[in-house]
Amino acid sequence: MFNAWFRRHSAVLALRAVPFHSNPVSRNARRRSTRIAAFTFAAFFVVTAGARAQSQDAQIQYDDATGVFRIDAADTTYAIGINEAKQVQTLYWGKRLATSDHLAAAHAERGASSFDPPLDTTPHEYVGWGGPLYVEPDLKITFPDGNRDLVLQYVSHRIDGNELFIRMKDVSSEVYVTLDYQADAETGILRRSAEIEDRTDAPVTIEQVFSATWNLPRGTDYRLRYLTGRWAAEWNVQEQPIHPGKTVLESRRGSTGAQNNPWFAIDHVSSNDPEHGSVWFGALAWSGSWEITVEQDQVQQVRVSGGPNSFDFAYKLEKGQTFRTPYFYGGYSSEGIGGASRLMHRLEIDSILPRAPHPPLRPVLYNSWEATEFNVNEAGQMALAEKAASIGVERFVMDDGWFGERNNDHAGLGDWKVNPQKFPHGLQPLIDKVHGLGMSFGLWVEPEMVNPNSNLYRQHPDWALNFAGRPRTEERNQLVLNLARADVRDYVFHALDKLLSENAIDFLKWDYNRNWSEPGWPQRAPEEEKEVYVDFVRNVYGIMAQLRAKYPRLEIESCSGGGSRVDLGVMHLTDEVWPSDNTDAFDRLLIQNGFTYAYTPGVMMAWVTDSPTWVNHRTLSLEYRFLSSMQGSLGIGANLNNWTPEDFATAKKMVAQYKTIRETVQRGSLYRLIEPGNGSEQSVTQYVSRDGAQTVVFAFLHSSRERYPFPRIYLRGLDPAAIYRVAELDGQVTKDTPAEASGAWWMQHGIDVNLQGDFQAAAFELRRGEK
Ligand code: GLA
Repeated sequence: MFNAWFRRHSAVLALRAVPFHSNPVSRNARRRSTRIAAFTFAAFFVVTAGARAQSQDAQIQYDDATGVFRIDAADTTYAIGINEAKQVQTLYWGKRLATSDHLAAAHAERGASSFDPPLDTTPHEYVGWGGPLYVEPDLKITFPDGNRDLVLQYVSHRIDGNELFIRMKDVSSEVYVTLDYQADAETGILRRSAEIEDRTDAPVTIEQVFSATWNLPRGTDYRLRYLTGRWAAEWNVQEQPIHPGKTVLESRRGSTGAQNNPWFAIDHVSSNDPEHGSVWFGALAWSGSWEITVEQDQVQQVRVSGGPNSFDFAYKLEKGQTFRTPYFYGGYSSEGIGGASRLMHRLEIDSILPRAPHPPLRPVLYNSWEATEFNVNEAGQMALAEKAASIGVERFVMDDGWFGERNNDHAGLGDWKVNPQKFPHGLQPLIDKVHGLGMSFGLWVEPEMVNPNSNLYRQHPDWALNFAGRPRTEERNQLVLNLARADVRDYVFHALDKLLSENAIDFLKWDYNRNWSEPGWPQRAPEEEKEVYVDFVRNVYGIMAQLRAKYPRLEIESCSGGGSRVDLGVMHLTDEVWPSDNTDAFDRLLIQNGFTYAYTPGVMMAWVTDSPTWVNHRTLSLEYRFLSSMQGSLGIGANLNNWTPEDFATAKKMVAQYKTIRETVQRGSLYRLIEPGNGSEQSVTQYVSRDGAQTVVFAFLHSSRERYPFPRIYLRGLDPAAIYRVAELDGQVTKDTPAEASGAWWMQHGIDVNLQGDFQAAAFELRRGEK
């Protein structure tokens, strides 16, 4: 049944032009028939010379005289030309140009010498490895006769509303590449991908296939920002000047990973204002091993290329089959890194999330993990649920420990049956109780994994990733199931389908607690084994998509031992993400700050947990912990059995306050006014609602010293002429702060808060009144 669904949908997805907010779920047309492939491309051969297509939201124009494509969307212009060598060349990427501005035809660059020929100095949109190419290729192929030379040239193009397709072909073989560009009117962000088609008479092997290359304007003054991390310490923002040579951001882990996140931003070294100046940024929508290379070449041209990781990569295309890359999004902001983040946030909320453009606000959630760990049972969870409901929680999530022989992390993964000792009547009594308390019910699963100590593994030891006859490395006592296999994929789908059909589950916390090792697929022909990197991810996406189609109200959280699987690919299928297992509210300031460089607070789950924390044994007030979590999607993960009546009263008050500001936090514009880290004693964030009527400010002090006051806070994003009234949510503004003043006042004069001591926090709100 799954197979049939997947085949049907992959063919359909491959055939139609997909709207910007649609799901990129594997457009793997690999197994579809040649007839479909031929039909698909019939349309592409129509050369739309002189075409001028306008859509309501973004404009793509083609100038027949110059061979220049111009894409205008929001504040961005992107231009591409076909040069005399029929190469597809970047002409411009930056702030929107005047309609009257004329872009001259593309000309291949002159080479620098016989050592650096024109092929290497020309900024290609997409280049095959062939001829004298020494910079990073987008596509590298081996033909059955040993030939590895691939020289792609423009053949035709098609404009369809806000989508442009450029078709290229190898000079002497029937290998075609179709570049797909779609422009987002709201943010100006371009979504790019490439489709490779083998129309030769034989199979070809793809050894490297990127989604796109982004070329920056000529310049030497560039700085790269990227995100690094590890378990419990994700989302560190790194900055480095771009020098000649190559920086590779990547995951070789089989999934996204926390070591690097597939996001980049480039600005000028000289620009120090986070709210001004040009920033070019991008992110890959892929949850498998991935790679982004940032290369400054011999003539100091900076290019950014990315897609599935080329390390240990091979994918065989049979005659007539196609390979569709994941999407690589790229955007431009003239409002500094702050503006770049806000464009990403807007794109995610309005175009990427499953229910975009109107994804529901995140409910206030309770999660049992830190309270009970594996010690879950009916009575204990019901008691927690009652307490959670009493403070205004809207969703109750039972975490790990409810299934199989799962009493610790040594057993049970793979056996997705309710543990009869812990839940003698199944899950329904607990679910009924939770629903009766007015909350939705969520459940933890980790479907891609298996413990060797499980019935599943005893029955199917061959289902785990492995190289035949070689050791299998366990991490957290578990192995990775080979989801690329059809039978494993079907098992996982059916196990989850059964759970969802038998129990009224509203939400799955979908976890993934290790990375790959020994990624063998012994049942496959040796030359096809490496396809596991792609097929695995496509099947995970496929399962999520199929579950969502069957259970339309189901919501999913992407968790991977914290933030090890957060990317625009999984975000197409999940409603929220878990940024880190580190729930220390002070550490979280830094973690959440880095997270928001690329991803919206609207999906960023943040729990209030117990103090002192398990992480650093640090003691923090309940108010501080709440304010830290209220900067994202609020959750509670404390052991409510240990709370005092005062704790409940505080929590109830703060949950109620959060509900009055959550739309602004989750959907509004974020300004990182003072960033934590780099020795800063403070952290200040500001959120402005989409309609501009509400502003919320959070301020945190690590330690005050020598009686210095907290620095004045200068707000941003307000209407200078409008009047805003201030209200304290928690903490105090100074006594000479006016009750109301103009936007100009709050932005230019600023606002002083009373924060002194260690680990102090405050929050206040401004509401716009009459002008
Ligand atoms: C991972 C998650 C945690 C929790 C545990 C359960 O570490 O990140 O939130 O769900 O697994 O085993």
